[in-house]
Amino acid sequence: MTIEDVRERLKAAKRPIALTGAGVSAESGVPTFRGSEGLWRNFSPQDLATPEAFERDPQLVWEWYDWRRSLIAKISPNPAHYALAELERRSPEFTLITQNVDGLHRAAGSSRVMEIHGSIWTVRCTECGNSSENRDVPINILPRCSCGGLLRPGVVWFGEPLPEEMLYKAFEAASSTDLMLVIGTSGVVQPAASLAVRAKDGGALVVEINPEATPLSEVADVSFKGKAGEIAPLLVG
Ligand code: OAD
Repeated sequence: MTIEDVRERLKAAKRPIALTGAGVSAESGVPTFRGSEGLWRNFSPQDLATPEAFERDPQLVWEWYDWRRSLIAKISPNPAHYALAELERRSPEFTLITQNVDGLHRAAGSSRVMEIHGSIWTVRCTECGNSSENRDVPINILPRCSCGGLLRPGVVWFGEPLPEEMLYKAFEAASSTDLMLVIGTSGVVQPAASLAVRAKDGGALVVEINPEATPLSEVADVSFKGKAGEIAPLLVG
């Protein structure tokens, strides 16, 4: 199946969806998690991205998130983010599910975005549970809620459940889609990776964009081995 074939299928699709991962933001300059340059090469998820790590050393965890927020604040969406925003404008039923917390899909103009791992631009109170947007760069380390409680990053950490209702909607979208784009994810983190399997089982055409083979390449009907910023605009075209 060629790029042109998929472009035609995408034009005809009634309920296209996309699942994105860190690779969709790689060309913008956001580091991915796995691979030779990945964050998890140099940093330990156990020390930085678990509720236990935050309880043990909130200062260290906030310093790491502050560093990532400063890095992301300086960069812009790339052609892959813009292509997905265009797809939303064109397809009223389009749903975008992202594992990314960087906010670049929204910055590119996508509004129907399910951020299933949360957002680095939100904070949540560990006492009252209130969530709010916070774009301070740098952030005042050990930020406090108006109730006095310690604020934590509004992201999902290892060992934590994903937001239940959003996840339900994501699986619903995967069950009823006729074409799913899987862009820039290593496909090893659950339950996100199962969304592609659900779409496939429901009879959708599953199209992967990734320079490397992943476990989802086996699930996909076609894998374009290239960069998201180059291939996605050709498919949406
Ligand atoms: P990973 O870092 O695991 O995988 C990134 C994928 O992007 C790899 O398969 C790369 O080959 C691919 N890639 C790199 N550059 C690309 C490009 N220019 N275009 C397209 N693909 C490219 O990131 P995720 O799959 O998103 O979770 O990781 C899933 C979750 O694991 C993250 O959300 C995060 C992490 O631990 C939490 O923090 C809960």
